[in-house]
Amino acid sequence: MTSNRREFLLKGTLASAAVLAAPSIIAQSVLSAQKAPGPMVLSTWDHGIAANAAAWKVLVANGRALDAVEQGVMVPEADPLVTSVGYGGMPDRDGYMSLDACIMDEFGNAGSVAALQEIMHPISVARKVMEKTPHVMLVGEGAQDFALKQGFKKENLLTENARKAWEEWKKANQYTPVKFDRNNHDTIGMLAIDAKGNISGACTTSGMAWKLHGRVGDSPIIGAGLFVDNEVGGACATGKGEAVIRIAGSAIVVELMRAGLTPQQACEEAVKRIIRKQPDYKEFQVGFLAMNKRGETGAYSLEAGFQYALCIAGKNNLLDAPHHH
Ligand code: GLY
Repeated sequence: MTSNRREFLLKGTLASAAVLAAPSIIAQSVLSAQKAPGPMVLSTWDHGIAANAAAWKVLVANGRALDAVEQGVMVPEADPLVTSVGYGGMPDRDGYMSLDACIMDEFGNAGSVAALQEIMHPISVARKVMEKTPHVMLVGEGAQDFALKQGFKKENLLTENARKAWEEWKKANQYTPVKFDRNNHDTIGMLAIDAKGNISGACTTSGMAWKLHGRVGDSPIIGAGLFVDNEVGGACATGKGEAVIRIAGSAIVVELMRAGLTPQQACEEAVKRIIRKQPDYKEFQVGFLAMNKRGETGAYSLEAGFQYALCIAGKNNLLDAPHHH
């Protein structure tokens, strides 16, 4: 090979490597130049306050954001008074409690379960899917079999309160999906950043009350209900899952942050995208939360009434998200 040709090949290889690597090199150098902002945790709705408090215990003890988000969302999962997540949630139209959850860590690993029945902590099953299988998502009976093999116990998650509400709903037996609001909210989505500056997220729900049996919302879908890219930040969603899935909501928010938008601008742009593309947007609620590597946060919803909990330096506050209408 002539030296000219060798030089040309070498230059070509270096040039294409530089082009391919450029975005991640830029992101990494930007991020490594920044000091970690200090631990913080952000989650949806008022049930986020107790969840944040549990997550904070992990973060303040120098724990990993992944452990914090799992411990955090386990609180509403086990609380019978939270009627939209885990135990105490409302059943589907056939009376089955069917749970959806997902989790994502700082390495981009992800685990998810959908339409999981009779297991109190779907988020922990999702984490096992991430850590113990080569897969990302397990559903229905397969998810339950896996959970039982991992040592989880079968439990009746339908509380008396939820059973009565279902009996009442059956009298009219009208399939009108419930509109999520301040009094009737849904998912807990949570994002945390730990002392090392690593971000993880979790999302868990019993889904829309009176949904069709087998319906899966956005919450267990990586990129819809939750997305984390530790180079950039994380996002999670709440509200009508179908609307969020249709725009790959949380992935879009993270990609908009990667492109330079603040977390607040990214959440607003995702909501605007729903408005532009989904003409029935006045019929439902959707909200997004986002957090970037600098510890900046964003929150925005279609309608008034979306609240979220933010815990920084041990101060845990319930805040009203700005909204479109
Ligand atoms: N966002 C929860 C659901 O639609 O199931």
